[in-house]
Amino acid sequence: MWNLKRYGISLLGLLSLTCACSVGQEPPQTEALSWHTLNGEPPIIIAHRGASGYLPEHTLAAYALAIDMGADFIEPDLVITKDGELVVRHDRYLSDSTNVADHPQFADRKRVKVGHEGADWFVEDFTLAEIKTLRTKQVKAGRPTDFDGLYAIPTFDEVLELVTQRSEETGRRIGIYPETKQPAALEALGLSYDTALLDSLTKFGFDGDDDPVFIQSFEMENLRRLSQKTNIRLIYLFGQPLSLSLEEIARFADGIGPYKLLLIDDLGVPTGLVKEAHELDLPVHTWTFREDDVAPQFQGIAKDELIHFMDLGVDGLFSDFPDTAVKARGVSE
Ligand code: G3P
Ligand code: CA
Repeated sequence: MWNLKRYGISLLGLLSLTCACSVGQEPPQTEALSWHTLNGEPPIIIAHRGASGYLPEHTLAAYALAIDMGADFIEPDLVITKDGELVVRHDRYLSDSTNVADHPQFADRKRVKVGHEGADWFVEDFTLAEIKTLRTKQVKAGRPTDFDGLYAIPTFDEVLELVTQRSEETGRRIGIYPETKQPAALEALGLSYDTALLDSLTKFGFDGDDDPVFIQSFEMENLRRLSQKTNIRLIYLFGQPLSLSLEEIARFADGIGPYKLLLIDDLGVPTGLVKEAHELDLPVHTWTFREDDVAPQFQGIAKDELIHFMDLGVDGLFSDFPDTAVKARGVSE
């Protein structure tokens, strides 16, 4: 495996250095270890929904923990309230991730909507003030529920404030990696989703292609629209084999965000997608790495999985457990 090879080189280099020093010679120049990323830098670690393996996802507490764990970017999924405020939730519906069902005053907001199975409560039917009365909870079975009921749903601006504050405190500029969630459907309801997104990012100084910000979406049309309005780098997400070429994607996006198992086959052999994307200068940010959901090729060992993908040359990884990803990157260096 590559990682062992990389260790071999590293150990040999160390041995040469030790021998040379022991006889008073100049240490030899050892070959610098390199990453197979587009820019030769280590891959970025993106805290997926915050440190969501530990705390309820998409809460300020989960984002702050991710930053403390060394994540380079934090990832908010964005939806929008009735009064036009962007808030962070993975879904427009609220029953899974909040205690909305315990609020009798909202019983009549439970609705059936196209594209969603069964009745639920939807963010766009609530004002921000109402959303703020809810509390978040763990969404994934088997993860800690000790923090259920403690944290409110943050606005996107509150997340940006946290990132700004932590960047100032730590002296390390922390990046933001928002995902647009069903923007076409929300715009069709009369909500100014794109404008709210770009206004917030601009307000906090994330508006250029050299700022630590990427906007990601599964919706190609949304990225096409955004590409006309902003210089922020755009990432096209996909979970299935592509039905369009990478050349076509390069016309409206600056990189790709494929599901991780599109990058390797059942034996872990690269499918070639990373190489093909790199040939077009498209960085590859892949998802999602979870200690409690490791791909079968890696026999449940999260670190092995992460190192394997880092060896493929991916430029970024989304992880629910950013501490594990940061450690794996350290092992690979
Ligand atoms: O955002 C990257 C990837 O995680 C997309 O999937 O469903 O977790 O937002 P999701
Ligand atoms: Ca996401």
